[in-house]
Amino acid sequence: MTEKADFCNKVVYQIYPKSFRDSNGDGFGDLRGIVEKLDYLQELGVDYLWLTPFFSSPQNDNGYDVADYCAVDSKFGTMEDLEELIRQGKERGIGLMLDMVFNHTSTEHIWFQRALAGEEKYQNYYIFKEGQPDHAPTNWQSKFGGSAWEYVPALKKWYLHLYDVTQADLNWDNPEVRQELKNILRFWKEKGIRAFRFDVINLVSKPEQMEDDFEGDGRRFYSDGPHIHEYLKELVKDAGIEEFVTVGEMSSTSLEHCIRYSSPKEKELSMCFNFHHLKVDYKDGDKWALMPTDYKKLKELFVEWQTKMQEGGGWNALFWCNHDQPRIVSRMGEEGIYWKRSAKMLAAMIHLMRGTPYIYQGEEIGMLNAHYPSIEQYRDVESLNYYKILLENGKTEKEALEILAARSRDNARTPMQWNGERYGGFSEVEPWLPLSAQFKKEISVEAEREDEDSILAFYKKLIAMRKNSPVIAKGEISFLETETYKVLAYERVLGEKKILVFCNLSGETQSIPMNEAWKSYPLLLENYEGKNRLTEEGKYLMEPYECMVLGTL
Ligand code: GLC
Repeated sequence: MTEKADFCNKVVYQIYPKSFRDSNGDGFGDLRGIVEKLDYLQELGVDYLWLTPFFSSPQNDNGYDVADYCAVDSKFGTMEDLEELIRQGKERGIGLMLDMVFNHTSTEHIWFQRALAGEEKYQNYYIFKEGQPDHAPTNWQSKFGGSAWEYVPALKKWYLHLYDVTQADLNWDNPEVRQELKNILRFWKEKGIRAFRFDVINLVSKPEQMEDDFEGDGRRFYSDGPHIHEYLKELVKDAGIEEFVTVGEMSSTSLEHCIRYSSPKEKELSMCFNFHHLKVDYKDGDKWALMPTDYKKLKELFVEWQTKMQEGGGWNALFWCNHDQPRIVSRMGEEGIYWKRSAKMLAAMIHLMRGTPYIYQGEEIGMLNAHYPSIEQYRDVESLNYYKILLENGKTEKEALEILAARSRDNARTPMQWNGERYGGFSEVEPWLPLSAQFKKEISVEAEREDEDSILAFYKKLIAMRKNSPVIAKGEISFLETETYKVLAYERVLGEKKILVFCNLSGETQSIPMNEAWKSYPLLLENYEGKNRLTEEGKYLMEPYECMVLGTL
């Protein structure tokens, strides 16, 4: 058994508390709302709940702008509510994974406030640079649009913010900052937390000399930056969280670095999120330029990351969706007649790979994109900024809205659809963000719970399979030749056990070679029950978005 045994058979469920369940009728999801739904989560079979930040925050970036890392924001409830959630989760065998936003703090954080008030100690907590008001220290761009620097006239200094202007980057080169962050982890450890997600953690180590970027937005200088591995090792060791389940969100990272971040011998993190497979519909790498999904690239990326992470001893976090990504069924599946089938195929494809699967709330019932008709419905700071930028760059309102409809983070943030009531059972009053315009009661937990053939039932099967089958949790992966990039096929092997997974990524019928040996394996799972699809040439016809799993568990 490898050291990975602790989490290779686990499944993480991501909750965006603001949109999960509103228990007190203010239109805003809260911690008590999560407690209400624990039985559902237990029934689903998940092991950890990753909660996006519920800490004190002005909410300019929905909690990723933290003003106090050790306090619960009153909008979400109280520390007692959180303790109740921890306790009740534990009773059901479910742990919490907290989201540590350590690249930056809110400008309302006391450290930043004291920096603004002129205290040098706290100015050294951030990245302040002397300079003229009309000349930013570098030409780096914020990931939410515009310059990454903001001038503070009273101090005659600029500060760096890779995200919103109210999210000031911390100076990790200052040991006092690293000490503060370790203390925060220790605080949560004392509360019984045993799992952490680290927000954009590979961006925290900035270069000593900052220079203009004439080839890009600056990210090549600070992504997987100079001291990143050293800082991570130190944080994990000193905070005493080596044995915990930890996942790092890695922005614009590389395979080589991800192997190092997640290889057990490096003692950094348990696993990493990378986003390469979710950029295969970005034209020239630009999120705001639409392009149909490049399935060839998608397949190549899975093959490369799965194979090389295995060779290097790294571990992947497997995911399609999170609170920053459009809904996968709307994006790479189909919202119409193949809705159910495509959602299941996409689920099977990643859940049976080597790594730890993550499910984002609503994915398990096949929730769709928001399809908002106008800009008034959007709330996300990134979407609102880019809407302006797109218009400034000459797009019409209609074009800009089309781009947002495909790319906005609000697609993921629409309220969870529990039942067919007016607000989907999320709340009794109008929610902070409108429900998806495609909301209907068929796409709800209540409806899918009753249906054995539902997307929800399929997710439950996948989760149970991983729990009960070491070949899924720990088997070696290798990819099969399918003669088309539109079908992804792989096998997992552990001792005598073997499973084969075939996924038709496309909305068309595909024929694949069916080797004699494969034909003898029993069928374990499928999303389409057709008969006799072997052709005379010995090929197998796969229906649009079909997936099938053969083998012995
Ligand atoms: C991560 C989060 C995202 C947030 C950003 C800045 O990418 O997932 O929601 O806006 O970091 O904290």
